[in-house]
Amino acid sequence: PTALAGRPFLKELDFTAEEFRGLVELAAELKAAKRAGAETRHLTGKNIALIFEKTSTRTRCAFEVAAADQGASTTYLDPSGSQIGHKESVRDTARVLGRMYDGIEYRGDSQAKVEELAAFAGVPVFNGLTDDWHPTQMLADVLTMTEHSDKPLDQIAFAYLGDARFNMGNSYLVTGALLGMDVRIVAPKSYWPAQEIVDRAQELAGASGARITLTETLAEGVRGADFVATDVWVSMGEPKEVWAERIAALAPYAVTMDVLRATGNPDVKFLHCLPAFHDLGTKVGQEIYDAHGLDSLEVTDEVFESAHSVVFDEAENRLHTIKAVLVATLA
Ligand code: CP
Ligand code: NVA
Repeated sequence: PTALAGRPFLKELDFTAEEFRGLVELAAELKAAKRAGAETRHLTGKNIALIFEKTSTRTRCAFEVAAADQGASTTYLDPSGSQIGHKESVRDTARVLGRMYDGIEYRGDSQAKVEELAAFAGVPVFNGLTDDWHPTQMLADVLTMTEHSDKPLDQIAFAYLGDARFNMGNSYLVTGALLGMDVRIVAPKSYWPAQEIVDRAQELAGASGARITLTETLAEGVRGADFVATDVWVSMGEPKEVWAERIAALAPYAVTMDVLRATGNPDVKFLHCLPAFHDLGTKVGQEIYDAHGLDSLEVTDEVFESAHSVVFDEAENRLHTIKAVLVATLA
């Protein structure tokens, strides 16, 4: 058993830098083993419940494939398929599922809910995204950064552009701070993470040597960055009415080729957790472009499809990193 055996995976703040890096290293080993056709099954006979109160492609598939690769079974509970929080309290659900399953993944809006599940389940609970944090995504992003940079983590600079008050912005800030990175949050001030989270990040930076910059000035924010990251401007669960204000505020922070050039780094890489609005390929995207007279949102198609973009490595790494969490906590 590893040092993380039996532990939940709820948010980055619950882990030391060493523990977090250890999960990324385990993911790299599991990835190499799978590629070599030499994967060892550590989770034979285990059962994992996957509760999704919001939709998902990557997170759900990563949990299902990771579990299958490791010999475990999964049960998928879709947004309408469980009683949790409607007909049955979170703590009762936790105690029921904890009797049947070895681990429980939860995706929904409230961090308090996933924390309550973990407190009552008696088995490890994994946060598959809440409004506040997306910690499994951070493992994938850090693995991707290590794969696409020759520098040690504590010498890597990354800039996150866009709405930084939500899961991705919060998680990037805290993860970069934990790992001693050069973290830049580049957005209008009203879109910066809550002061309480910035304070926690500053505390972590004091111990890790991380440099933290929050700035409205794009040129300052991206200069010298090894990675530029963004996320959708309107997240799951938000009403479509907020698109107009998001576009007005965040359009100057869209990731364009000019933004990548402003890093001064010809090898800069682009990250996006996905799904992304970058072309005319989706119905929802098309409606937004039509309503606002735009042809791109948080990232241009040119950047997304360029050699700078490592988004599909990042997406693949969801599998290997989620597998690392399952193996470390359940094996
Ligand atoms: N990045 C991510 O979490 O994707 P899904 O919403 O498809 O799971
Ligand atoms: N901020 C986005 C991330 C999706 C993976 C959302 O919450 O919808």
